[in-house]
Amino acid sequence: MSSDKFLDKKSLKKLDRELESLISKIGIDRKTQDEVFDKSTLHTFEKLISGRVIDIVDFPISTGKEGNVFRAITPEKKLVAIKVYRVTTSTFKHISNYIIGDPRFKSLSKNRRDIIYAWTKKEYKNLQRAYDVKINVPRPIKSINNVLVMEYIGMESMAAPLMKDVKLKEPKKIFDKIIDFISKMYTQADLVHSDISAYNILMHKDKPYIIDFGQGVLKGHPNSLEFLRRDIHNVISYFKRLNVSSDENKIFQKITKKS
Ligand SMILES: Nc1ncnc2c1ncn2[C@@H]1O[C@H](COP(=O)(O)OP(=O)(O)OP(=O)(O)O)[C@@H](O)[C@H]1O
Ligand SMILES: [Mg+2]
Repeated sequence: MSSDKFLDKKSLKKLDRELESLISKIGIDRKTQDEVFDKSTLHTFEKLISGRVIDIVDFPISTGKEGNVFRAITPEKKLVAIKVYRVTTSTFKHISNYIIGDPRFKSLSKNRRDIIYAWTKKEYKNLQRAYDVKINVPRPIKSINNVLVMEYIGMESMAAPLMKDVKLKEPKKIFDKIIDFISKMYTQADLVHSDISAYNILMHKDKPYIIDFGQGVLKGHPNSLEFLRRDIHNVISYFKRLNVSSDENKIFQKITKKS
């Protein structure tokens, strides 16, 4: 199946229908379906434990639309964050739009579970790219199926807060840092985050950390420039309210000219 065909809404709808009919053929109800998926996620957790990636799952940090994030402890007593994508997520269509057009995932089959697994791997790879060019992001540790293990950002007592919940001491400094991250990501890692907002930036020791890289796309993606502009626009709008003014076009041009 070509990625173009896959992109169109009709084929996504068809895919959804196929899945529904498959599920009804197997004769399992919604609850059992969830339980089955839970079982496979549990199995993945067992793998993480037997592979000594983690020792104990501590507690949930966040329960969101697409998945859950837990804190866990490694056998070396280090803290890690574990993001678990729900295989039954209703935002599946949203997800597939960012996978399609990504040359790294060309050979993806059309199975929903495969797409969620690829999405998890994509977040892992995107994190690695950003980490390699020294952007403040959680260091990726492992990804298996729908589970991603990464460095935990926060204090022993609690995870780092989202930027939206923090009163910034030096907003201009933080703004410059975030724009610098966006620029570095684009020019050095060929990557556009595509969902930067105060909801996806953690503040830790007065420094911003960018998280949630699942939507990230490579420069070659057909919509990468549109996503880049949107990221810049969102950051600028947020900081405008904190009295940090800037010129969107100038910043966009500077970043895209650099590369
Ligand atoms: N490495 C990490 N260290 C500490 N906390 C984290 C880490 N990664 C994620 N979190 C917490 O988990 C939350 C959800 O993570 P993320 O934004 O990656 O997922 P999401 O898919 O956007 O979830 P949601 O549906 O809640 O928006 C974050 O807002 C943050 O509070
Ligand atoms: Mg998020």
